Amino acid sequence: MSDDDVVLMEVDDVQPVSKPAPATVAVKATSHLPWIEKYRPQTFADIVGNEDTVSRLAVFARTGNAPNIIIAGPPGVGKTTTILCLARALLGTAFKDAVLELNASNDRGIDVVRNKIKMFAQQKVTLPAGRHKIVILDEADSMTDGAQQALRRTMELYSSTTRFALAANNSEKIIEPIQSRCAVLRYSRLTDAQILAKKYVRKRTYHTPRKELMLWFSQPRET
Ligand SMILES: Nc1ncnc2c1ncn2[C@@H]1O[C@H](COP(=O)(O)OP(=O)(O)O)[C@@H](O)[C@H]1O
Ligand SMILES: [Mg+2]
Repeated sequence: MSDDDVVLMEVDDVQPVSKPAPATVAVKATSHLPWIEKYRPQTFADIVGNEDTVSRLAVFARTGNAPNIIIAGPPGVGKTTTILCLARALLGTAFKDAVLELNASNDRGIDVVRNKIKMFAQQKVTLPAGRHKIVILDEADSMTDGAQQALRRTMELYSSTTRFALAANNSEKIIEPIQSRCAVLRYSRLTDAQILAKKYVRKRTYHTPRKELMLWFSQPRET
């Protein structure tokens, strides 16, 4: 994101940050978006920190040869953001039809795997050459064991058409057969210096109207 892309607007309807809306919300209509979406980086270049992992993913995106992945790490370090950037880079305009985004902490049971995920995996979608549909499972470590076993079978069954990208706080809570089918990538916490070094974060802080800043600081956040 360049400095010019940062458009600051009044936020008069801020939603709680702890339960983000689906991240596929269009970024253009920014006035009513929670900040977690409004400032979510759209490309790998704007993701701060964890450079080795991000550049590895950028190679997957360029070659199109992406494995199933698990990104594990503490809250708020860019796991969901990274997965969305990867899906966007791989699929371009097909993103809308070729991505199923689930928050596994709401959709954590076996029925979701049997119904939503399986149905999506079976659907025919027009894709760029060599690309796959992508199922994003946020907070996958909160899925029940039964759901994870079903997921493992679905991963095997549809491996020729569908890739899975899981985000988790704790990868140990994901069953071993799923871990062994994924590249497991670990994100570490960002330092204050890393966050402040990012130009648009600085600009955002300098230019943000006081009212908006007060709203931001008064919101509950995960630690
Ligand atoms: N590494 C990062 N680089 C830039 N922005 C980030 C990064 N990590 C988090 N953010 C900011 O915090 C918000 C939440 O990040 P998210 O990817 O949802 O975190 P996680 O999934 O790890 O909990 C994003 O919308 C983005 O604005
Ligand atoms: Mg997340």
